[in-house]
Amino acid sequence: MSLKTTTFKRKGILLAGGSGTRLYPNTIAVSKQLIPVYDKPLIYYPLSVLMLANIRDVLLISTQKDLKNFQNLLGDGENFGLSISYAIQDRPEGIAQAFLIGEKFIDNNQSALILGDNIFYGSGLENILSTTSAQHNESTIFGYPVENPRRFGVASIEKGKVISIVEKPEFPLSNIAVTGLYFFDKDVCSRAKQITPSNRGELEITDLNLSYLKNSNLNIHLFGRGFAWFDTGTPEDLVDASVFIKTIEKRQGLKICCPEEIAWNKGWIDDNKLFRLAKNFQNNSYGQYLEKLLKEKH
Ligand code: G1P
Repeated sequence: MSLKTTTFKRKGILLAGGSGTRLYPNTIAVSKQLIPVYDKPLIYYPLSVLMLANIRDVLLISTQKDLKNFQNLLGDGENFGLSISYAIQDRPEGIAQAFLIGEKFIDNNQSALILGDNIFYGSGLENILSTTSAQHNESTIFGYPVENPRRFGVASIEKGKVISIVEKPEFPLSNIAVTGLYFFDKDVCSRAKQITPSNRGELEITDLNLSYLKNSNLNIHLFGRGFAWFDTGTPEDLVDASVFIKTIEKRQGLKICCPEEIAWNKGWIDDNKLFRLAKNFQNNSYGQYLEKLLKEKH
C-alpha cells in the first residue's frame, strides 16, 4: 500500500466589489458588504463559508474606495487565524474577472470564489464544504431552488448532472439558481482568460462555468429543503436575512458565521487569543458570546 499523500492548498477569493446602487443611499459612503446583517458585517458570512471549507489563504477584492474599510475590519486576517490579502477591481466588469485579478494569488492552485453578499446557512454545511474543498481535481457549483429564477444564473439538471446554465434567463428552464459559491480546479485562470465580455459588458461567471461544462467536469451540489441561501441585493433582502439570522441565533444561543468561533473551533487561534478578542468587544453581546465559548469549554 502506498503511503504517498497529496497535499494541496486551495485558495479563497472573496469578491466584494460593485457600487451597490440598488441599496443607495445606504451604500453611498459604505460598501454594501460592510453593512450589518443583524449582529455582524455582511462580509463575515461569506468569509465564514471559506473558513468552513478549510481555506486559510484569502484574497479580498474590492474597489479602491472601499478597500481601506475592509482592511480596517479584517486586517491581515490574523485574528481569525487567516492570511488575508487585498486587490482592487476598478470597475464592475464581472465576477469571472476575479480570476484575472487574482491569478498571481492563486498561483496555479485550486480555488474557491464566493460573492461578498451571499449568505449560506444550514445543518451539515461544514461537512459539505470541507468535502467539496478536498476534491482537488473537481469543480463544483451549488444550486438552490428559488421562487424567481430570472434574477440568477439558472441550471438545468438531469440525473444529478448539469445540462445547461443560462444567466438571467427570460424563460427559465428550471427553478434552480446557481449560488455565488464556486470551487474550481487549477485551470480556472487560463479558462477565465478565454472568456469575452457579455452584452452587459461583464466577464460572466456563467460563461466560466459553461467552459467547464463543455470540456471538463462540473459538479453541482443542490441545497435542498431546510437550507437557507440569501443574496442580499436589495433592502428587502437585507431585512429578510437579518431577521432570519436573529431568529435562529436568539432561539439557539449560537451565532451564525462568527469567524472568531470558527477559527477557535478549528484550532487556528488559541484560548488566549479568543479571550483577548472577546475583551476588545468590552461588554457587548458579541464579546460576551466569545467569552461564553471559553467558559463552556472548561
Ligand atoms: C451573479 C451571477 C449569477 C448568480 C448570482 C448569485 O448575479 O451572475 O449567475 O446566480 O450572482 O448571487 P449578479 O450578482 O451579477 O446579479
